[in-house]
This record gives sequence, C-alpha cells and structure tokens, in this order.
Amino acid sequence: MSRIKLNTLLNVSGRRHPILKVIAAPSALIRSKSLNYQKVLSDVARTMVRLRKPERLVKLVTRLIDREVSVTHTSLLVFEESKQRFIFIDSKGDKKIPLGLIKVDANHPLIFWFQNRMRRKYFKHDHIYLPDLKRQMTALAHKPNTETVIQLMNQVMKAMQMMKADLVIPSYFKGNLLGLLLLGEKVSRRCFTAEEIGFVQVLAQDCSMAIKTAEFHQCLLRQNAELEKQIRETKRLRQKEHDTYYEVLRTLGQQIYAKDPYTYGHIHQVERLGMMTAESMGYDLTGRKKDILSASLILHDVGKIAIPDKILNKPAKLDPDEWEIMKTHAQRGAKMLEHLTDFKEVAEIIRCHHEKFDGSGYPRGIKGQAIPVESRIIAVVDAFHAIVSTRCYSKGRPVEVAMEELRRCGGAHFDSEVVEAFIRALKENMIKRGVGFFLEEESLSRSSH
Ligand SMILES: [Fe+2]
Repeated sequence: MSRIKLNTLLNVSGRRHPILKVIAAPSALIRSKSLNYQKVLSDVARTMVRLRKPERLVKLVTRLIDREVSVTHTSLLVFEESKQRFIFIDSKGDKKIPLGLIKVDANHPLIFWFQNRMRRKYFKHDHIYLPDLKRQMTALAHKPNTETVIQLMNQVMKAMQMMKADLVIPSYFKGNLLGLLLLGEKVSRRCFTAEEIGFVQVLAQDCSMAIKTAEFHQCLLRQNAELEKQIRETKRLRQKEHDTYYEVLRTLGQQIYAKDPYTYGHIHQVERLGMMTAESMGYDLTGRKKDILSASLILHDVGKIAIPDKILNKPAKLDPDEWEIMKTHAQRGAKMLEHLTDFKEVAEIIRCHHEKFDGSGYPRGIKGQAIPVESRIIAVVDAFHAIVSTRCYSKGRPVEVAMEELRRCGGAHFDSEVVEAFIRALKENMIKRGVGFFLEEESLSRSSH
C-alpha cells in the first residue's frame, strides 16, 4: 500500500491519526528511541476504542509492526465467538501465514498455554519469546516433577516453529483470552528489546479492545433493530385494537338509532359534522383528544337505550312526564360509561350534551365555558341534523333555515363561536361537495336498511 493510501486511510476526522505519526516517522527515529512510545500508544488506544469498524485499523497495526519492528511476519489470531475457535484475521510479511488454512481450537498448545494460569509459575511475563522458552525448558530439565510442563512447553515450541513465530503476545478481555499476536523473527536476526515487546504488547491489547468495542457496537445495533421491530409490532397491534374498538363503538351507536328508522344513519352524520366543526375551531384533532371527541359524538345518545320504545318512537310530541323520562338519557348515558377508565371524559361530555349556553339546559343547568367544548359541538350538530331531517312528526327543513335557526339561538341555547365554526365548515364542504353532502351516508344507510 502506498504512503498516499495510508494517509487517506488514517486521516480520522480530518486530523492525522496517531498511528500515522508512527508510520510516517523515519525508522531510524524509532530505533533511536527519541519517539515517545507511551505517548503515541496512549493516543492510539483512545482513537481505537472510538472506531466502529476495527478491521482496517487491525490491518494497519500489523503493517506498522511489520515495517517498524522489521520482522519476517506479523499475524493476528482472534477468538471467533460464533464458532468457538480462533482464526487468523491478518498476516503480513515475507513469511506470512495463509489466512484460513490453520484452524486453532481450545486444545491447541498455544491456546491451552495462554488459557492456563499454570504458565505464571514458570514465566514472569505473559508473552512467550522463543529463546526464553528454550532457556526455561533447559533449566526445568534439572528439576523434579517437571515432565508434564516440559512436555507442554515442547508442544508450544513446535507450534510456534510451525507458525514461524518467535514472539507470541496474548491479549485478554475480562480475563478471557481474546487473541494472539504472532511475530516472526526480526529481519536483522537480533533479539527483541524489552521496549519493542512492550510497544507490541500495548498495540495487541488495543487491537483487542477495538474488536470488542466494535462487537459491542454491533450487538447494540442488533438490539436496537430488534427493539424497533417490537415497537412497530406493538404500534400495529395497538392501531388494530383501536380500529376494532371504534368499530364496536359505531356498531353500538348504530344499534341505538336502529330502533328509530328516521334517525338511522344519524350517528355517522353527527360524527362527521362534529369533527368538521372541531377542525374549523382549531381543535386538537390528534391522538387521544380526537378519540374522545369521536367517541362522544358516536355515543352521545347511548342513554336512549334505557328509554322505553313507546316514548322513543312516539309519533307525536311527548307529554311533560314522557319528556322528563326522555331527558334522563343524558345522565343514563354518562352513568353507563363513567366506570370505564378510558371513558371518564366521554361520560362527562355526554352528560352535558343537552346543557345550554345560557344555563337553561339539563341535567345540571351549567352554562358558558363550564360546558365542555365537545358537548357544545354535539349540541349544535345534533340540533342542525334534527332540523334538516324528516321525522315521523316533522318534515325536514332547508339547510339555510337550519343555519338561521342556529344563529338565532346563538348565545342562548348554543355557543355562538361553535355555531359560526359549524356554519363556516358546512359552507366550505357544501361548496366542495354539494349541498346535500352531509346526507349522503344517510341515503346509503337507508337504502341498505
Ligand atoms: Fe341527546
């Protein structure tokens, strides 16, 4: 790889990577020890743990060692967790090891040696330097009960010779062997100095940290992806539950009006006109507020389910006693829903849908802003629909007449602000979709009834 390519690869965040300073430094400078190894290594370590893809850095580290320490080859063996074995991920130099050819499992002498605490009894350092190993084997040969360890050392020596490694440096993570850095003999055939070994040891440990950091990052990404998938599924199920829930509400609301063929279809129109009015008023039509308004519009007369049919369907005006019974539907509807946790607001809105703006309504005679805005909206659209619809006892009147009536009652029966918002929304929709747009569903419903 050319120096230009190295410069490109090592330019992290627009700044010169610390390793680049080492690579770029003349070999003589390193050999003269005028470069502060510890300072460079400390900078490298800080940069490594921030990297998300350490493969490139690992390759550069092996290249750096290969060039600056001048060895016949540099190879990095790391633990592959998924297959529970060690694999060579990089090898550089004249006598490099072909990647993938050598399989190394936990029974391999080198792995066994570095995973066994017994080694500390015979070596004060964690690494193995081949000349040190040979000296130690010779020394142990004169001591009793050392046959087993000498046999193991002999296997380690043969393994190192087979891999043409003079120096093997382990790296650990939380006490577990993570990898081995293998270095061939120095091209100069001189011995490794303590400073060179220390330098390589830190790089080996930093490589391990970079790999572990990347693994941890990948693990986090996988967990995040799984979490996002679960959130999407939860949202989908909640939406499905929500849709089903409102289908049930609509069916229930429809059943109330099914008792009276003249009001069949009323529920859809009241809901549509109510939502339209709320939108015109700038009402928050997102999330739970929308659901509350929608449910209130659909179920505002649910209490009529408890009103006798002879009163509900009487083809004439109600007498005073019957009217008193009819008026109880607001309270009855609220009581049916107020025990349900998600319907407390809906129950209160339903209770107030026959209250009047001037306080002359029922059941409590509250007035003005004390009446929930949703109840004031229901009052207006319900009245409008009653005026324009044909009933058994009255013929439907024109839209213009209904608008005039609503305005006339503004400030007394109705909230004028709601009336104006309703008329504004109604006119806009009539221009867009035609005069009878609000009766479209009624016609459809009647034809299928
Ligand atoms: Fe009502």
